[in-house]
Amino acid sequence: MEAYKPFLAEVLIDHQTLQRRVGELAAEINRDYADENDLLLICVLRGALPFLVDLMRQLTVRHAIDCMALSSYGVGARASNGNVRVAFDLQTNIEGRDVLLVEDIVDSGHTIAHVLELLKTRSPRSLKVCALLDKAGRREVVVPIHYRGFEIPDKFVFGYGLDLDEHYRNLNFVGVVDLEKYSSTR
Ligand code: IMP
Ligand code: MG
Repeated sequence: MEAYKPFLAEVLIDHQTLQRRVGELAAEINRDYADENDLLLICVLRGALPFLVDLMRQLTVRHAIDCMALSSYGVGARASNGNVRVAFDLQTNIEGRDVLLVEDIVDSGHTIAHVLELLKTRSPRSLKVCALLDKAGRREVVVPIHYRGFEIPDKFVFGYGLDLDEHYRNLNFVGVVDLEKYSSTR
């Protein structure tokens, strides 16, 4: 039996639904950036990896990718409290570029708000956000989400990039964690 089965409360978004929605987002991006040929996708490591890969495979607009990693202080597994630090920075100069930030999930919004503020100081030509999941009910700071996969309820989710203590990012669906059962397995 797969290790996650005992604490999988429910499959929130199955593989087929994810793939269909990613295709729709890619179509929107292809349309919106049809006249650009210098798009840069920025993957926020590590949660956005599977999403970025599936998304870019369906992009027809010419683009490059780069990655950055962030870490938040004193928050444990759940959302950040605003103390966000760049752990691993871009290798690309984004000045004058059309930048699309690709995120797995926007929760409180602090992470994205911080990254946007930082990236703006580097003078990109445009800067937009593409987030697979949006826990809108938990927002603490207003952030723009130009491309949104799914709005989801305030439940802790895992799979398709999202981790439970760094595991299960490989699952091809997004599932809700039964936190009580999960704690009892550790
Ligand atoms: P924010 O700064 O509160 O918006 O948090 C964003 C980050 O918190 C995401 O990039 C995730 O790493 C993490 N996060 C928030 N909610 C979840 C969840 O339900 N499962 C896994 N990670 C989450
Ligand atoms: Mg995380």
